[in-house]
Order: sequence, then structure tokens, then C-alpha cells
Amino acid sequence: MARIAVVAGDGIGPEVVAQARKVVDAVLPGVVEATEYDLGAARYHRTGEVLPDSVLTELAGHDAILLGAVGDPTVPPGVLERGLLLKLRFAFDQYVNLRPSRLWPGVTGPLATVKPGEVDLVVVREGTEGLYAGAGGSLHRDTPAEVATEESLNTRHGVERVIRDAFARAGRRERRKVTLVHKTNVLTHAGSLWARAFAAVAAEHPDVTTEYQHVDAAAMFLVTQPQRYDVVVTDNLFGDILTDIAAAVTGGIGLAASGCINPEGRYPSMFEPVHGSAPDIAGKGLADPVAAVLSAALLLEQLGHSDAANRVTEAVASELANRAPGVPLRTDEVGDRLAEYAAG
Ligand code: NAD
Ligand code: IPM
Ligand code: MN
Repeated sequence: MARIAVVAGDGIGPEVVAQARKVVDAVLPGVVEATEYDLGAARYHRTGEVLPDSVLTELAGHDAILLGAVGDPTVPPGVLERGLLLKLRFAFDQYVNLRPSRLWPGVTGPLATVKPGEVDLVVVREGTEGLYAGAGGSLHRDTPAEVATEESLNTRHGVERVIRDAFARAGRRERRKVTLVHKTNVLTHAGSLWARAFAAVAAEHPDVTTEYQHVDAAAMFLVTQPQRYDVVVTDNLFGDILTDIAAAVTGGIGLAASGCINPEGRYPSMFEPVHGSAPDIAGKGLADPVAAVLSAALLLEQLGHSDAANRVTEAVASELANRAPGVPLRTDEVGDRLAEYAAG
């Protein structure tokens, strides 16, 4: 029995997570025991709590976490994002933020130059450091002399371990290529650390092709030539931005899955769509659950249920190949179709 903690969260989070659970239960009946944790905007308003230590301890006892989305317009920005989502990524040392992007057959992306099947890349985004570390501060708030700083934390340990993961992944893929994305021409301190760590790890992997791109160029090439990428390794904020671009060019954020992984398994890994709580469509049953369902497939893979993960992925492929263009989808209907396919 696998023990999964479910944090459905805010906005469309509960709507899409319900579909992911349905699909998991269909593909592996009776194998996954899910425990729901009520965290997010509603709990914050009710109790003032974001992530009590007791809950963090309970979550640590699970095999994995499935998360929907956090963040709500009624809560000041950062309270839930930092206090809940980033706290989980940091507390559970989820330093590999894995974000695959594929252009699925049947999906019409915005790029005329790219055919289905041609884009199959994975961004290995550093998940515990960089500008997300929370270093910085402000002075003289609300005066003309106000100053605010955000510092990017980069440790040799943190940078090297995520680069190692990227190379190991590339070694298992067909094209065996890793692109380092940074901004070494301006961020000379962190950039130098990343470049040297990258070169050191690359030297251990003569079978893997490497390239370097500045992040601005990578943003452009992701739009003009996404086919050129295999594995991309990059820092936390660059990875956040680039993976929304990668999602957009492969059919939209509603299809983009992610895993926040603690590769050593010392802590649970967490699986979540790349998208957020989408307040503009929340409660309307319009959210695409595919990102959440593919995130659940990554979860199943991580827990060693590769056959089940593949079946879920096939269900998504079938769903996307058969979608009628222009017809608005219904979240629960998509979930039903995926569950039916996955059940076999
Ligand atoms: P968002 O991803 O929530 O929404 C951006 C746009 O994409 C919206 O138009 C939305 O309707 C659309 N969209 C998102 N998911 C979709 C889906 N499954 N199907 C169809 N359309 C979808 O990003 P945002 O608007 O910048 O952020 C909203 C809130 O979510 C904020 O509070 C933000 O902090 C939070 N957020 C949370 C996460 C997370 O929990 N991992 C990720 C990103 C943003
Ligand atoms: C994501 C989100 C988060 C991030 C926010 C909500 C903290 O944008 O998962 O991509 O920046 O990592
Ligand atoms: Mn993001």
C-alpha cells in the first residue's frame, strides 16, 4: 500500500486533483491510500494557519505528496506560496524540480514550425536555492528612501547535485544532451559557480553532449526552436519562467506536469501541475486536469509503479489525440475518460 498525502489547495486545485485521484484509483485499485490535508486559503482564513509543524511532520511520513495549487486573491501574495508550497519544497529538500514538456500528437501548439512529437524536453529546475531562498530585506518602507533586496543563494553542493541529476537523466535519454541555462555574462558570481560545477560534472559524462545558453537566448529559442532541447538544467527562477514558456509552446499550461523530487528518498517527493490556482476559471469546471493527471503519473513512476504510470500516460495521449478542436472541455468529463482508459 502506498501512502499518499493529498494537498488539493486553492482555486482549481481541488477540481484537478479530484480527477488525478480518480485516475490513480482506476489504474491501481486499492493500492494507494490517500489522506487529504486541508491546507490553503480556506484554512488560513479560518484559523490563521498556513502549515502547522504538526502537519509538516505528518506529511513527512507519507510516500509522496500530490498537490493541486496554492494561492488565492483574498490572501496577500506570498503567504501561501512561500509559507506552504515553498516551505514544503525546502523542508523536504526537493531540489530536483522536474518539468517535462512534450508536444503531444493531436495538440495544436502556437508554433507553425513545430510538428507533434518533435518537442520532448525536460527542464531540471533547481528547487531549493537561488532567489527563492528568501534572503534579502527592505529598509525605509513606504518612504522615498525605500530599498528592497532579494539575494540569490547558490551553494556548490546545491548546484552540483542538481546538475548531476540532469546529467544522469540525460544519460538515460536518447539524445543525451544537457543545456545549462544561466546568465553568466551578468550574474558573474552565481554564474561562475554554475558554469564551473557544470564543467566538472560534464567531464565525468563524456557520452553526454553539452551546451550553454544565456537565459534570454534560451527564452527565444524555446519559442523559435523548442526541438533543440533535450535536458535543460537551470536555476530556480529561470526554471520557473522557462517552464511556463515550454508549457505554452506545447499546448498550454493545462498540460504541464511537474515533480518536486528528493532523489535520495529521505523525504517525500511532491507532484503538482506547473499551473497555479487559476482564480479566473475556478469553480467553473473548465480547468484541464491533464497537468494534474500527468503529475500523478510522475508520482506513480517515482513509487515504482511504472506500468501504471505508462497506462496513465497512454490515457492522456489518447485523450489529447481525440480532442475536438474548439469544444470547451469539462474537467470531470476529461477525468472520467482518462480513468476509463486507464482502468483498461
Ligand atoms: P495560473 O497558472 O493559476 O493561471 C494562469 C492562466 O492559465 C489563467 O488564465 C488560468 O485560467 C490558466 N490555467 C491555469 N491552469 C489551467 C488549467 N488546468 N486549465 C486551463 N487553464 C488553466 O497562474 P497565475 O494566474 O499567475 O496565478 C494564480 C495563483 O496561483 C497565484 O496565487 C499564484 O501565486 C498561484 N500559483 C500557484 C502555483 C502552484 O501552486 N504550484 C503555481 C503558479 C501560480
Ligand atoms: C510554480 C509556481 C511557484 C514557483 C510559486 C507559486 C511559488 O509559480 O510552481 O511554478 O514559483 O515555483
Ligand atoms: Mn511557476
